Amino acid sequence: EAISKGNHAHFMRKEIFEQPIVVAQTMQSYVRAFEGEVAIPSFEFDLSAVERVTVVACGTSFYAGMVGKYWIERFARVPVDIDVASEFRYRDPVLEPGGLALFISQSGETADTLAALRHAREKEQRIAVVVNVPTSSMAREADLLLPTRAGPEIGVASTKAFTCQLAVLAALATNLARAKGRLTGEEEREIVAHLQEAPEAMSHALNHDADIAAIAPLIAPARDVLYLGRGPDYPMALEGALKLKEISYIHAEGYAAGEMKHGPIALIDDQVPVIVLAPSGPLFEKTVSNMAEVRARGGRIVLISDAAGIAAAGEGCMATIEMPEVHPLIAPLVYAVPVQLLAYHVAVLKGTDVDQPRNLAKSVTVE
Ligand code: G6P
Repeated sequence: EAISKGNHAHFMRKEIFEQPIVVAQTMQSYVRAFEGEVAIPSFEFDLSAVERVTVVACGTSFYAGMVGKYWIERFARVPVDIDVASEFRYRDPVLEPGGLALFISQSGETADTLAALRHAREKEQRIAVVVNVPTSSMAREADLLLPTRAGPEIGVASTKAFTCQLAVLAALATNLARAKGRLTGEEEREIVAHLQEAPEAMSHALNHDADIAAIAPLIAPARDVLYLGRGPDYPMALEGALKLKEISYIHAEGYAAGEMKHGPIALIDDQVPVIVLAPSGPLFEKTVSNMAEVRARGGRIVLISDAAGIAAAGEGCMATIEMPEVHPLIAPLVYAVPVQLLAYHVAVLKGTDVDQPRNLAKSVTVE
């Protein structure tokens, strides 16, 4: 059956709007009601002996892995190594036999990631795969198969597969934490409750589509754009920059907000928009002080935050995008939406081929 765009102008837009449904669908395979209680069921795979996790992926899937590293280390207290597949393959990584190697891929066919998986297998790693195409090579070669249920993704720039990967990684982090005895039942229930809030919060984020479209003309003329975030929102800054590059062809860089002073600050002037991802939470104040550094140099800021964050730091910004107030755990799932929509609307304004950007392929099956 041919997949249609429905009433959307592009597949990418359709896929962005599908996210609350496909994330909920993905979550349903990991979060189940047991005897009246909602919990993440244990995988049929013993995670209790895992001492170290090695995450390998490319592109957007790699950024999902970076968020996963924060979660696995925070909840399970297991060290996580992460690398892009093209580097991992050739750097002769130190892999103790019995370690868990985790590969993340929408297609399950990316040549570098697949070769990295086979390398890890040779090094006697146990292979976990987060993958959207259940019939793919990576799915077939997994010891622990963790499917995302995003459905077919047509837009070359990944959107819904990414947020589904995040949902699965949160479930994996929780499972590992439980297997390692690092979570009380109460803590697990809390994590599950927050995860279940994600689809609705993502719907609220989608309601800001028109506001984001109105901000796009402020970004479209720029030659360079900087994205800043901290903690798990740092990979989201990287992903926001990648989305913009991929489909609008504007040069964009994602940076850890605190690292900006070591280089990118030299770029700041009134021509370089700075997109700041700063949900309320333990790192908010730190990011606000980085915003002040930008403002002091005439930088024009688009602040993506919740009502409290915008009330505290929105003054003097070129624009603000209001997200629902969410627990920091699910912020990456929710903040994915505005960065995707912003890239989308800028690309539409620039008249690029949103679903099939130049020089890019949906699945890169060559090295
Ligand atoms: C290509 C696509 C990206 C994707 C990357 C990894 O570059 O254009 O959207 O993130 O490959 O693909 P995978 O299928 O392994 O997630």
